[in-house]
Amino acid sequence: TQKLNTVAKSAGKTYFGTATDNSELSDSAYIAILNDGTMFGQITPANSMKWDATEPSRGSFTFTQGDQIANLAKSNGQLLRGHNCVWYNQLPSWVSSGGFNAATLSSIVTTHCSTVVGHYKGQTYAWDVINEPFNDDGTWRTDVFYNTLNTSYVPLALNAARTADPATKLYINDYNVEYAGAKSTALQNLVKSLKSAGTPLDGVGLQYHMISGSMPGGLASNIQAFTSLGVEVAITELDIRMTLPPTAAKYAQQKTDYQTVISACKSVTGCIGITIWDWTDKYSWVPSTFSGQGAACPWDATYLKKPAFDGIVAGL
Ligand code: XIL
Repeated sequence: TQKLNTVAKSAGKTYFGTATDNSELSDSAYIAILNDGTMFGQITPANSMKWDATEPSRGSFTFTQGDQIANLAKSNGQLLRGHNCVWYNQLPSWVSSGGFNAATLSSIVTTHCSTVVGHYKGQTYAWDVINEPFNDDGTWRTDVFYNTLNTSYVPLALNAARTADPATKLYINDYNVEYAGAKSTALQNLVKSLKSAGTPLDGVGLQYHMISGSMPGGLASNIQAFTSLGVEVAITELDIRMTLPPTAAKYAQQKTDYQTVISACKSVTGCIGITIWDWTDKYSWVPSTFSGQGAACPWDATYLKKPAFDGIVAGL
């Protein structure tokens, strides 16, 4: 049976990985597959390094859950992706509704990113320093960071992360930037302006939460548009959902769609790795987030490989 990380490395990629979450780690059948470093050469904590988990109240940091994932990566010989420093969501209310002035919020952002990235110094391949900064029309998301600091929070966070761990790769990560359009253009323009200002930035994460049967075209050229700006690209959160219940025909379509995404990454040298947003439908975030949708992962809820698994292999 093929192992995805092994196949990805043969195809010239740095890793094939998956998200995971602390609550899943007591499932021995789950952990047996997760721990196979030849299947998954990289893991991302789906929740436990987010702001609400790491700094639930100001200046009070908790790393127990994040450390569990970091230690798992270490014992399995897997790369670790830090996720994330600055995001409007899963943000504790002391930040989102804090009413801080610009100087105070700047210091809060710097402290948060320095402390969290610094805690994992030497342990991560990359960090999603900035998560989901744009609206779908390419305008800036008017969250507490933008409303208080305008765009200055982006270089602030990136510089803090670089100082805290000079070796980890610093990323901006977003969705609906997987294909050409206003949002992808806005992110490309941000990359250009950060690069020309000398702000540290190593990569762009394209999330790839997709809908089966509605795959946009031009995926490879969109990836290329980012890599030509001098950053690497990673597919950071791949899943491809369908309307429930699944059928053989829907699984066949999903296989094609997985292959389409993976082969787009394969075709661009600077697309360095792929992470699925958990590998089994048992723990996917999709059904609870998109009503009536699911079956988005390459393994089903009983840990059987779906046709999507073969689509991934075929794309590599
Ligand atoms: C999701 C997690 O998978 C869920 O468990 C949680 O309830 C909500 O967040 N984009 C991101 C991820 O960057 O952090 C999100 O993860 C999915 C969308």
